[in-house]
Amino acid sequence: MKFFTDTADVDAIRELDDLGLVDGVTTNPSLVKKSGRDIIEVTKEICSFIDGPVSAEVLATEADTMIAEGRKLAEIAPNIAVKVPLTLDGLKACKVLSGEGHMVNVTLCFSATQALLAAKAGASFISPFIGRLDDMGIEGMELISDIRQIYDNYGFETEILAASIRTVNHAKEAALIGADVMTAPPAVIKAMAAHPLTDKGLDAFLSDASAAGLKIL
Ligand code: G3P
Repeated sequence: MKFFTDTADVDAIRELDDLGLVDGVTTNPSLVKKSGRDIIEVTKEICSFIDGPVSAEVLATEADTMIAEGRKLAEIAPNIAVKVPLTLDGLKACKVLSGEGHMVNVTLCFSATQALLAAKAGASFISPFIGRLDDMGIEGMELISDIRQIYDNYGFETEILAASIRTVNHAKEAALIGADVMTAPPAVIKAMAAHPLTDKGLDAFLSDASAAGLKIL
């Protein structure tokens, strides 16, 4: 499973990257707003040290302008994945941009039929939003399962990018189902390393090492 991190905070991306936990980055207009940076500038900086796909989202809602914005974003670096919303205009932009050889991430996916359309439009990634479905009392993870089955039924190569991952349990479930990628905030990825028994075990080892006067360096 590939790990993308869902943030436009460059320091947080660098910290995770140093841990070897960043296969790519996803951003959206809300995350760019939170960073306080210019969209082009911050995307350029992320691409200067991340080799994997970096998703940058268009701002237009009409296909021709989305395509123009997508082309401009794609000029930033060869690893840009242009993010377009799952609307009919977004699907049209996806078809054109993917036809030109650009990676396209179709975002704001909330149903399996939407995901089917994105695959047919040539998307490199489909981003189903788990947490936002859970927020409505709908089991978000079932959507990942449904899309997995549909894509496998027909051999679609579009990668399932589980998004709106809010908890370590979301990450585990998405991995069990076989999502190709998950994108999560840095804090969720770091929380995956935590276990109280690890802390307790380490305390005991350190205390025994100290009692025995053990030294390595
Ligand atoms: O990747 C999409 C993500 O940014 C949405 O997450 O937590 O705002 O639903 P959230």
